[in-house]
Amino acid sequence: MFELPIYNICVFSMFILAAVTFLALTKVTAPYGRHERSGWGPRIPNKFGWVLMELPAILAFFIFYFQGKNSFEAVPLIFFFLWQLHYFYRTFVFPFLTRTEGKKMPLLIALIGALINTFNAFINARWISHYGSYSIEWVHSTPFAWGVGLFLIGLLINGHSDSILIKLRTHGPKEYKIPYGGCYRFISCPNYLGEILEWTGWALATYSLGGLAFALYTLASLLPRAIDNHKWYKARFPDYPDRRKAIFPFLF
Ligand SMILES: NC(=O)c1ccc[n+]([C@@H]2O[C@H](COP(=O)([O-])OP(=O)(O)OC[C@H]3O[C@@H](n4cnc5c(N)ncnc54)[C@H](OP(=O)(O)O)[C@@H]3O)[C@@H](O)[C@H]2O)c1
Repeated sequence: MFELPIYNICVFSMFILAAVTFLALTKVTAPYGRHERSGWGPRIPNKFGWVLMELPAILAFFIFYFQGKNSFEAVPLIFFFLWQLHYFYRTFVFPFLTRTEGKKMPLLIALIGALINTFNAFINARWISHYGSYSIEWVHSTPFAWGVGLFLIGLLINGHSDSILIKLRTHGPKEYKIPYGGCYRFISCPNYLGEILEWTGWALATYSLGGLAFALYTLASLLPRAIDNHKWYKARFPDYPDRRKAIFPFLF
């Protein structure tokens, strides 16, 4: 259905998108969550926005994956499971645990997110189940072992850090407090670090350019936001822990 040269152009575009995203987000903070502000067009309920943005990653991956010639082989199925595990949490668990009742996000943000998620799901699913070739021996390889390990550690850090934030709110959706415990001992945004580790692990385990492009895209979108969040914490809380870094423990 899709020819390899077109596929390669798509992967190349994802690298470009990562660079453009990084440059854009160093100038403009994405207007959702604590940085939500007017002037970005119509707004939709926050929880609905998350589902609208993330559901395409599940559906598109499913559709493209099962069009592949290797879709019922063991290693591609492991990757399929890991992908769906992450996006099931992000789409159907995370938004409904957050205490964001009555909060909104710009429709534009949700639509851009949905578009990128669809594109990225195509790039990764198509490689995993069709263009890539993974024999069962791949599970004994070093990239697979380290990659899957990193992915799972990232998933745990991401989910645990999200849950610390979610439990902070006891007085309604507008309340913000300083998070403590877990990886917050070292950095302001361990949920973002977890997400970056996940997709770096994915890139390694799949040993694919599509995986690498997405890992870089994740870094490009979360690094500038982590810096903005870190500055926001320091400006808002005079007693913010001094030695805490933004996203990489002891470094940055
Ligand atoms: N792969 C990617 O490119 C990508 C891009 C974006 C996000 N994500 C992932 O999506 C998840 C959510 O992202 P996000 O940017 O919304 O994360 P976030 O700013 O850390 O917020 C997560 C949740 O906790 C609440 N919250 C944050 N800080 C709080 C505080 N100090 N006190 C009380 N509540 C607090 C937020 O409420 P408010 O919404 O009301 O602020 C939100 O409901 C993260 O795990 C992230 O890794 C991935």
